[in-house]
Amino acid sequence: MTARVQQILNHMSTNEMNGVEAELWKGVPLAPPDSIFKLTAAFKADTFKDKVNLGVGAYRDDNGKPWVLPVVRKAELILLNDPALDHEYLPITGLPEYTAGAAKLILGTTSPAIIEGRAVSVQTISGTGANHLGALFLSRFYKWNCAPRVYLSNPTWANHQAIFKNVGIEPVNYPYYDPKTIGLDFTGLINALHVAPVRSVFLLHACAHNPTGVDPTREQWGEIAKVMLEKKHYVFFDCAYQGFASGDLDNDAWAVRHFVEKGVPLLVCQSFAKNAGLYGERVGALHVVCANKETAERARSQLSVLQRSEISNPPTYGARLVALILTNEKLFEEWKRDIRTMATRIISMRKELHRLLTEELKTPGTWDHIINQIGMFSFTGLGEEACKKLIEKAHIYLTNNGRISMAGLNSRNIRYVGESLDRAVRGEL
Ligand SMILES: Cc1ncc(COP(=O)(O)O)c(C=O)c1O
Repeated sequence: MTARVQQILNHMSTNEMNGVEAELWKGVPLAPPDSIFKLTAAFKADTFKDKVNLGVGAYRDDNGKPWVLPVVRKAELILLNDPALDHEYLPITGLPEYTAGAAKLILGTTSPAIIEGRAVSVQTISGTGANHLGALFLSRFYKWNCAPRVYLSNPTWANHQAIFKNVGIEPVNYPYYDPKTIGLDFTGLINALHVAPVRSVFLLHACAHNPTGVDPTREQWGEIAKVMLEKKHYVFFDCAYQGFASGDLDNDAWAVRHFVEKGVPLLVCQSFAKNAGLYGERVGALHVVCANKETAERARSQLSVLQRSEISNPPTYGARLVALILTNEKLFEEWKRDIRTMATRIISMRKELHRLLTEELKTPGTWDHIINQIGMFSFTGLGEEACKKLIEKAHIYLTNNGRISMAGLNSRNIRYVGESLDRAVRGEL
């Protein structure tokens, strides 16, 4: 066969294959892009020199740059120079020093659940992976009263809906945010707990609620725990911002620890993306608190089976970093300082924005929610139209529900943001 004939034959078979492929995927509907990633792409494409990105859920320093925590830099150097480290697979449930340290961090060093050996901890692909594995585990093994259903706060992190739907659990809303007070609809929440069928599954944000920045008070958490127990509900805690709410890791774990102490059946999804700035390293954990050691072992065995079929075993790098920080007293203290640095900067941005709007610009409306809300995000109370104007006219990027990331503010852009918000509220943009 001549080279030319071979060339023609190759060409024909490639075309035929393309034909089959086109046929096969023709019916696949085009999905809309993820709204946050779309917002980031629009921000990047914007050439305006004073543009501001308040959409992204990642910490930025006062220069608007990603911040590698100094403690992480130190831990990286230690790992780099450790000749004992290899690239072998981790156990299916993850690096044992990491999962043990992560459990203590969220449940508390003296947690009865840990001491009694009834907390099962599995390393996951960050908080998203923990949510997925937790949801998958419930979809297989939870004693559902009726069709599998999870109650999510209205609003919640948008991915929650998709994660539960993926495993055949129907998401339904419970009241959480009250637009009239720009605060918690506590009566609506408690009422939803009462009217839900017994043994319902409720997802609660452990602290620094995303997207509203509105958390229950300790007294309210106490009430919530009581009704959970009365109704035998199951709590699916999502804890993606431990340390970001108050700057104190223990303080931010209070609700989870209180629920464990009261004996509410629960699991916790944990992420080190935000509090250790390890976003892309995907360091997370799922902790299932069981009634006793025997059921914990059963749960562990099934979680291992699920994990094996999905990721086989989790990645090493981020888990090693976090394990080192959690087990070395000096590094742990440094980490706590780094967390305080991030939380303090965010709180100072809240105060300055509040001062600008209330004292200097006298912007119509009440703005106390800016300082009362907690963590990385603030729900401004701005409507969709005002958000659109801020993006199009002021080049300030935020989600269309009025959520702004306080971490996107810094000493150089805060006045511009304050003045633009003021003009948006007055309808002058
Ligand atoms: C409420 C909530 N849960 C979970 C996550 C998961 O984050 P990651 O998978 O990056 O740890 C996030 C991230 O934005 C979040 O806001």
